[in-house]
Amino acid sequence: MTASAWGAPTPAAASPGGYQAGSAIRALQLNDLLEIEKQAAQILPKGGFGYIAGGAGDEWTLRENRAAFERRQIMPRVLTGKGPVDLRTEILGTSIASPVVICPMGGQGLAHVTAEAGMAMGAAAGNTIMTLSTVSTLSMEQVASASSAPKWFQLYLQKDEGVNRELLRRAKAAGYEAIVLTVDSTATGNREADARNQFVFPFPFGNLVSKGTGGDVHALNAAFALKINPKSVEFVIKESGLPVIVKGISSPDDALLAISAGAAAIQVSNHGGRQLDGSPATFTVLPTVAKAVARKVPIIFDSGIRRGQDVFKALASGADIVGLGRPAYYGLALGGWRGVQSVLELLNKELSMVMQLAGTQTVDEAKRTGLV
Ligand SMILES: Cc1cc2nc3c(=O)[nH]c(=O)nc-3n(C[C@H](O)[C@H](O)[C@H](O)COP(=O)(O)O)c2cc1C
Repeated sequence: MTASAWGAPTPAAASPGGYQAGSAIRALQLNDLLEIEKQAAQILPKGGFGYIAGGAGDEWTLRENRAAFERRQIMPRVLTGKGPVDLRTEILGTSIASPVVICPMGGQGLAHVTAEAGMAMGAAAGNTIMTLSTVSTLSMEQVASASSAPKWFQLYLQKDEGVNRELLRRAKAAGYEAIVLTVDSTATGNREADARNQFVFPFPFGNLVSKGTGGDVHALNAAFALKINPKSVEFVIKESGLPVIVKGISSPDDALLAISAGAAAIQVSNHGGRQLDGSPATFTVLPTVAKAVARKVPIIFDSGIRRGQDVFKALASGADIVGLGRPAYYGLALGGWRGVQSVLELLNKELSMVMQLAGTQTVDEAKRTGLV
C-alpha cells in the first residue's frame, strides 16, 4: 500500500460502527497548542474526546504536569551573539528535525479516518519519529506501509509470552527500529470520563484482531501482564533484537533498574496523567532521574509538553528529546497528516524562538543551560 492510499479518507472508513471521526486533510491555523484541545472537542464524539483528553481520578497529576513547568524559568541571554538556531538532533542513531518525537497513543481511529497511517505520515512530513501503540486501530504492517520514515513500536507486555514474542517478531519484520516497553500500566488508570461516557472502543485493535480482542478496553487490559520487572526488560531485548526504551519511569531507582537490565534509553513519563493520579509531574522528577542516569543512556521526556518553553525546560533539566502526546492526536483529528505536521511545525517554531532568546544555538547547548 502506498502512502497516498492513506491520504484520502474513504466513505467506508468514515464511520466505523457509526462513530464519526475527523476526515479533513488540511494544514491548521494555530496560535498555540492549548487551544487545539477546544477545537478537537468541537468535532469529536464525546466518548472519543473524553478518552483522549481525560486523566485518572481527580486529574491532579494531569494538571500538575502543566503546572510544574511554571515553577522554573529560563534566563534570557542577549549578548552571546548566538544564532541562527539549529534544532536538528539525533536519538539512538536516527537523525530528527528537532528534539520532538510523537508518543505512542492507542486507537487513533477515534481521531481520524486515516488513524495511525495519518499520524505516521504527519511524523514523516515533520522529519521525526512516531511510536506506534500496541493498541492501534490499524495493524503495525499497515502503518509501516504508510510511511518509510523511522518508527518505533510500543509494547504493552501481555500475560501470554507467545503473544509477546509474536508482536516483537512482527514489529522487527515490519521494520520498526526500536521497542518502547511501557512499564506503568500493570493496572488501568481510573479514567472517570470513560466511565461517565460509558465509552467503548468502536472498532477492534489492528495488532490484536487475531486474538479476538474487540473494542472492550477492559477485556483487553485483562490480557496485560500484571507484573513487570527487570527480567521483563531483558526478555524484550532478547526476543526483539532491537534497542529497548523503557517508558513510564518516574523514580531514579526504576531508571537504574532499567539501565542495569540493558535498556537503550528511558522515557520519563506518567502516561500524560492517565495512570497513577497523585503521582508527581514528570517535570518535577526529571532532574533527579537525570542525575541518577548520569547520561549513561538517553532520556526521552513526556507528559505535559505544550509549548516551546516546555521543550527547552525539559532539555535544560536532563532530557535529550521530548515526546508529544495529545496535541498530535488533536492535530490528526482536525487535519489528518497535515494537521499533525502543523502541530509539529508550531512547536518547533516556538522552540526556535525560545532557544534564540535564551542565547542557545543548538540542542546540545540548550541541554547545558541551567534554569532559574
Ligand atoms: C489517548 C491516549 C492514548 C494513549 N495510549 C498509550 C499507549 O497505547 N501506550 C503508551 O505507552 N502510552 C499511551 N499514552 C500515553 C502517551 O504515550 C504519553 O505518555 C502521554 O500522552 C504524554 O502526555 P501528553 O498527552 O500530556 O503530551 C496515551 C495517551 C493518550 C492521550
